[in-house]
Amino acid sequence: MDDSSFWELEIVNCNTLRVFVCISATFRQKIMLRLGFRNSCNISFSRALFTESFHRLLSTQTRGKLEDKVALITGAASGIGKATATKFINNGAKVIIADIHQQLGEETAKELGPNATFITCDVTQESDVSNAVDFAISKYKQLDIMYNNAGIACRSPLSIVDLDLALFDKVMDINVRGVVAGIKHAARVMIPRGTGSILCTASITGVMGGVAQHTYSISKFAVIGIVKSLASELCRHGIRVNCISPFAIPTPFVLGEMSQMYPHVDAQKHVEIVHNVGVLKGVNCESNDIANAALFLASDNAKYISGLNLVVDGGFTSFKNLDFLAPDKVQ
Ligand SMILES: NC(=O)c1ccc[n+]([C@@H]2O[C@H](COP(=O)([O-])OP(=O)(O)OC[C@H]3O[C@@H](n4cnc5c(N)ncnc54)[C@H](O)[C@@H]3O)[C@@H](O)[C@H]2O)c1
Repeated sequence: MDDSSFWELEIVNCNTLRVFVCISATFRQKIMLRLGFRNSCNISFSRALFTESFHRLLSTQTRGKLEDKVALITGAASGIGKATATKFINNGAKVIIADIHQQLGEETAKELGPNATFITCDVTQESDVSNAVDFAISKYKQLDIMYNNAGIACRSPLSIVDLDLALFDKVMDINVRGVVAGIKHAARVMIPRGTGSILCTASITGVMGGVAQHTYSISKFAVIGIVKSLASELCRHGIRVNCISPFAIPTPFVLGEMSQMYPHVDAQKHVEIVHNVGVLKGVNCESNDIANAALFLASDNAKYISGLNLVVDGGFTSFKNLDFLAPDKVQ
C-alpha cells in the first residue's frame, strides 16, 4: 500500500458507523480514522491500536448476537449440530458439544477452538443429560441456550402392519425421550435464573405425513408437540421453547440413508439426489441454514418468540402444485 492509500469501510448492521481509513504520508506509523458518527470526529491511532480496535469492532459486529451466552448442543459432533456450534461460537457464545460419538466430538471441539468443549453424552441416558447440564454450570456458572438436536434416522418397512416396535422404541428413545430429558434438565437450571432459550430439531417429516416412514415421522411430530406443551409452562419462567424443522440436508445422517438406497453411485451423486428434491430454485438446504435459524431463535432477536416450529424448507410443506396439462396438450 502506498502513502496515499485510503479505505472506506461501511460496517453492516451499524446505524451510523462508517470507518474511513487513510495512511498518512507524514506519519507512516499512524493511521487516521474518521468515524462517521452524526458528529464526525478525527482520531489518531497507532497501527497496533488500530488493528486491535478494528478487530474488536468487527467482532462486535459479527459475533455479538450471543456474546457472554453459554450453549449446550446435543448431537453437535457433526452435521446440523456442528454447524450450529460453529455459528454460535462465531457469535460470541461458549458451546458445550454433547454427543455420543466421543472421538468425533473431541475432534470437533478441537477444530472449533477454546470456546468449544466436548462432553460425552448419550441422550437416552438421563444421567448423561443431567451431567452435561451440570458440567455447563460448573464450567461457566450458567446455561443460556439448550439445543436438543441429537437424533437418528431409521430405515423400517413402509407399512404399519410390518412395523418393528423394538426399532420404534429405539428411535423414540433418542428422538423423543432424549429431547424431553434435555428440556427437563435445562429447565432445572434455567427456572431459578428466570431466563433461557431451548431449541429442538424437529423435521418437515413432523409437519406433514408421507415424507418419511412412520417411525421417524412420528418421532418428529412428537418433538413439535413437546415444544408447544413445554412452552406453555416455561413461559411463566421467562424461558422460550422453540423448534426448527429442516428440509433434507446431505449430512452424514442422510448420506448414510442414501448410500443404502443407492449403493451403486458415489457420495457426490448422493448429495445431488438430496438437493434435487428441494423445491426452491437456485438454492439448496444446508446445515448452515439451520444454524442461522437456531442463531435467530437463540438470540434476543427472537425475545418474544416461543412455542414456534420454524420450518426451513424453501416452502416445501406449504403447498402442492396442481400441474394441469397445458391447453395445447389437451385435444
Ligand atoms: N439432515 C437432515 O436432512 C435432517 C432433516 C430434518 C431433521 N434432521 C434432524 O437433525 C438432527 C441432526 O441430524 P444431522 O442431519 O445433523 O445428522 P448427523 O448424523 O450429522 O448428526 C447427528 C449427531 O447426533 C449424534 N447422536 C446420535 N445419537 C445420539 C445419542 N443417543 N446421544 C447423543 N448424540 C447422539 C451423532 O453422533 C451425530 O453427531 C437430528 O435430530 C435429525 O433428525 C436432519
